[in-house]
This record gives sequence, C-alpha cells and structure tokens, in this order.
Amino acid sequence: MRIAVIDEAEAKAQLGALAEILMQSIEDGALVGFVLPFGTEQARSYWQSIFRSVAEQERLLICAFVENNLVGAVQLYLSTEPNAQHRAEVYKLLVHRDFQRQGIGSALMASVEEEARKRNRFLLLLDTAEGGASERLYRRMNWQEVGVVPHHFVDPFGKPRASIYFMKHLAPPN
Ligand SMILES: CC(C)(COP(=O)(O)OP(=O)(O)OC[C@H]1O[C@@H](n2cnc3c(N)ncnc32)[C@H](O)[C@@H]1OP(=O)(O)O)[C@@H](O)C(=O)NCCC(=O)NCCS
Repeated sequence: MRIAVIDEAEAKAQLGALAEILMQSIEDGALVGFVLPFGTEQARSYWQSIFRSVAEQERLLICAFVENNLVGAVQLYLSTEPNAQHRAEVYKLLVHRDFQRQGIGSALMASVEEEARKRNRFLLLLDTAEGGASERLYRRMNWQEVGVVPHHFVDPFGKPRASIYFMKHLAPPN
C-alpha cells in the first residue's frame, strides 16, 4: 500500500475511483455530507467542486493506493483565515469497502498528521458520526473528544444522527 498527496491533475485522472468510494460510503450509511439517492454524476460533481481548492494547495488530497488502484482518500483543509494559520480540518476519510479493516484508514490519518506537521499546522479538527468505525479509529489514534452535537446531521437514509467533534494537538517538532 502506498500513501500519497495527489495534485489536481492526478485527482482528475482518479475521478472515477474517487466517485466510487464516495458513492459506496453513502450506500453504506456514512455521514459524509450526502443523502440517498446519490448517483455517479453527483459524486463526480462533488470531487470536481474541490479541484480548485486542491490546485490552490489550500486542501491536501491524500490517497491510498494498492497496486496503483486508489482505495482510500482523506482531505486536509489548511485553514486560510489569517488568525488560523496553525489549524487544519480533516474531511471525508473514505476507504473502499473491499479494503476496510486492513489499516488503510489509520495509515491515511497518520499521513494527515505528518503532512500537517510539515506545514506547521499543529491543531487538527474533525467531526464524525457517533458510534461507528470512524469514531473508534479516531479514539484509537488519540484524538480528543470536544463534544457531541445531537441531531447534527441526518444519515443517507434520513435518520437523525449525532456527531462528535474531535481535536488533536500535534507535538511541536524537535
Ligand atoms: C472509517 C473508515 C475510513 C475506516 O477505514 P479502515 O481502513 O477500515 O480503518 P482501519 O483498518 O485503519 O481500522 C478499522 C478497523 O480495522 C482494524 N484493523 C486494522 N488493520 C487490521 C488488520 N490488518 N487486520 C484486521 N483488522 C485490522 C482496526 O483495528 C479497526 O478495528 P475497529 O474498527 O474494530 O476498532 C472506513 O470504515 C470507511 O471508509 N467508512 C465509511 C466512510 C466514513 O464513515 N468515514 C468517516 C468520515 S468522518
């Protein structure tokens, strides 16, 4: 397995695979911003909507590849506000369903930390659905719970779900 930060050109080349992992996660009930029905065109337009931000390098698109096939992705948004140059936000950690429970999600999150450190972004934030694999993953990787927001979102089937905000302070470089 290989983890890499990909640029806009590579992201465009991987559009089909990115759309596929997003669609799968929604079919499987993940809280990643969308509800069913959700089709290929919507998935492709979502990714196309972030390409500019990837090109401008305010958003890192970190991907996992197995035998050169894209099987996972996560985004690290480098906050642009002048008073938040130390902060970054994590979005849409997604692993292809056939490749889950093999450590790929954890490897992507380890890379998030490494890339954040390189850019002096030492405060990381994210929110995730309460009670799922992602919550366990973040706790296992020592993310600190900030709080629970009841009825924060509805899931892809329309059911209200709480989410948990997590933060992580990275140790400053030696
Ligand atoms: C959440 C998600 C990204 C996790 O990805 P993943 O690649 O399965 O993550 P990992 O493999 O690192 O960890 C998941 C589990 O596999 C286990 N695992 C890791 N390596 C393993 C291995 N080699 N063999 C067996 N199990 C293993 C981990 O211990 C962990 O167990 P747990 O969930 O019971 O605590 C994935 O489930 C997913 O894409 N979900 C849908 C989208 C989603 O909800 N994203 C979160 C948005 S915030």
